[in-house]
Amino acid sequence: MKKPNPKNEIICLCNNVSRTTIENAIRDGANTLNKIFDTTTAGVGPCGGSCRRKLGPMLETYLTTGAFPEKIVPDMRGKK
Ligand code: FES
Repeated sequence: MKKPNPKNEIICLCNNVSRTTIENAIRDGANTLNKIFDTTTAGVGPCGGSCRRKLGPMLETYLTTGAFPEKIVPDMRGKK
């Protein structure tokens, strides 16, 4: 059986934006959430941005370590 490729994981279901697309945008200089929204359309779909919980940790990890997390742990701060 074929193993799912985490790079093809869809992070933003509203706008069908893959992890690869988001990682490329961050590598290309999207160093804030707003820049990720602008360059990929992830995070600004009709659900109101539930995928931002994943975009935040991806960006933060990249900016602090220079690499993306193997597994994205959603940031649930601020969620009740
Ligand atoms: S899942 Fe990304 S904005 Fe809805």
